[in-house]
Amino acid sequence: MKLGFVGAGRIGSTTAFTCIQHLDLDEVVLVDIVEDLAVGEAMDLSHAIVGLDKYAKIVGGSDYSLLKGCDLIVVSAGLARKPGMTRLDLAKKNAEIMRSVAKNIVKHASDSKILVVTNPLDVMTYVMWKETGKDRREVFGMGSLLDTVRLKERIIALGGKPRRIFMMGEHGDSMFCPKSLAEVEGEVDLDRAIEETRGVAMEVIKRKGATFYAPAVCIYRMVKAVLEDTKEEIPTSVVLQGEYGISDVALGVPAILGRDGVERIVEYDLTDEEKAMLMKSAEILKERLKELGY
Ligand code: LAC
Repeated sequence: MKLGFVGAGRIGSTTAFTCIQHLDLDEVVLVDIVEDLAVGEAMDLSHAIVGLDKYAKIVGGSDYSLLKGCDLIVVSAGLARKPGMTRLDLAKKNAEIMRSVAKNIVKHASDSKILVVTNPLDVMTYVMWKETGKDRREVFGMGSLLDTVRLKERIIALGGKPRRIFMMGEHGDSMFCPKSLAEVEGEVDLDRAIEETRGVAMEVIKRKGATFYAPAVCIYRMVKAVLEDTKEEIPTSVVLQGEYGISDVALGVPAILGRDGVERIVEYDLTDEEKAMLMKSAEILKERLKELGY
């Protein structure tokens, strides 16, 4: 299997490091506009993997042709959010970057599936899908899984045991948990856990400047599902065309991930309140896409 990264910054490199530890890969490629960064990360990773008594051909550079033959490409290139910025503030600049990345992926690795991480995640996922012209099953984003693991952490911290729970909608302020589907052991203030989850990324960014360990683990889980064809149900940002009564926007919904990418969108029965929250996410994201000319 050949795994590619466009963006060798902290999320891209930490994800690559996580993936070489837990997956059996034949090749790993890191592409970044800062060539030395991509080359340096690739060199460091190529030493690390031998230290794990494993081997994969790991190369880095700024030339997109290195991505040729990739099965899956993780795209984290773009400006990172700074304290006080919402993910949507980043939209204009990062949309330009997505358009450039899309053109290069189509030129050099048109068969590869694409996992988008760049924020605002759902907007960038849609832009990548639109600009590559690929089947919507092959372009998807990592956001709601990260929101889900953060919610699980909050529930555990508040004394509960999350048996079944997930976040959906925007990877942003309008994210929500369909509580009617949640199964949590123990007395936990779920609303408090959800509210704390909404703001926790910025709490991390304020302190350490960025988030990357939790995003990396979540990206790894999605990469594993696709490359190992696990058919795992994972909250995933994907372009909807009628599912949940929503079309022409990408947002986080439960999806079965496997060899073909998003193999099935899982449509649960939501309460009217939950449907309204999902619709609100969709409207916010469609508004942002309209401002970007989509
Ligand atoms: C976060 C970024 C990856 O939520 O969107 O940490």
